[in-house]
Amino acid sequence: MRSLSPEPGEVDLAERYAYPPGATWMRANMVASLDGAAQRDGRSGGLGNAADRHLFLLLRGLADVVVVGAGTVRAEGYGPVKRSAGWDGVRDGRTPVPPIAIVSRSLDLDFDAPIFTEAQVPTIVLTTATADPVRLKAARERADVVVAGRDALDFAVAVRELEARGHRRLLCEGGPACLAQIVAAGLLDELCLTLSPTLLGGHALRIVDGPPVPVPPDMTLAHALQDEDFLFLRYVRSR
Ligand SMILES: NC(=O)c1ccc[n+]([C@@H]2O[C@H](COP(=O)([O-])OP(=O)(O)OC[C@H]3O[C@@H](n4cnc5c(N)ncnc54)[C@H](OP(=O)(O)O)[C@@H]3O)[C@@H](O)[C@H]2O)c1
Repeated sequence: MRSLSPEPGEVDLAERYAYPPGATWMRANMVASLDGAAQRDGRSGGLGNAADRHLFLLLRGLADVVVVGAGTVRAEGYGPVKRSAGWDGVRDGRTPVPPIAIVSRSLDLDFDAPIFTEAQVPTIVLTTATADPVRLKAARERADVVVAGRDALDFAVAVRELEARGHRRLLCEGGPACLAQIVAAGLLDELCLTLSPTLLGGHALRIVDGPPVPVPPDMTLAHALQDEDFLFLRYVRSR
């Protein structure tokens, strides 16, 4: 065992979190309390600090597309991605913001909400062949709809469809139900985990919420950063 000494000086976050060149890369960005809670009062916002918010926005800037479950969109009241301070240079040659890709079977989404009507780049909806036809029609009027899988989204097929749209740098913002399926399908390359210095107890979701992962991935620590009493851990899948 050895101690992780904080490196002196500020870290260049855009450099530290640059996507590797080459193949499609699925990164997840999540926050958890010390006892593993991924929610505080039903949301994730209460777990972070200003640095976590800054990193959350920077990771969006680095991504080609932000994949998120409809549960999180509804719980957190997601809007479209907006350009953020700190993005200078990170989106050169790309759309001004990454689109959001919402995973939903029910299509229980408000298609008149800003996430659809005010998006600079059309929002993507990742859904299934058995989605309600009326809602599917409404989705198609407001979003770029991808149908992958019959009763449940086939995440591997959905990722290929995103690749076909030129999206290689993928960012998953959860929630735990979607992340569980991404991990189970062997699609997760990297986990950015903010460790929030608090203990909540109760029965909050963990960052991965689903059946046991059939082949649990081994993860390698790429870096550990610190701000206040928060840790920012970057783990990549061992190859
Ligand atoms: N700590 C963190 O970093 C973090 C990050 C994100 C979210 N959260 C928290 O986690 C909670 C929400 O997470 P969650 O796990 O309940 O929801 P989620 O993963 O965000 O979304 C679940 C929803 O995604 C859709 N979905 C999932 N798998 C699908 C499949 N195979 N096929 C089709 N659709 C599928 C379904 O939408 P439909 O119901 O529309 O069919 C399902 O209800 C919130 O409290 C949020 O604040 C925490």
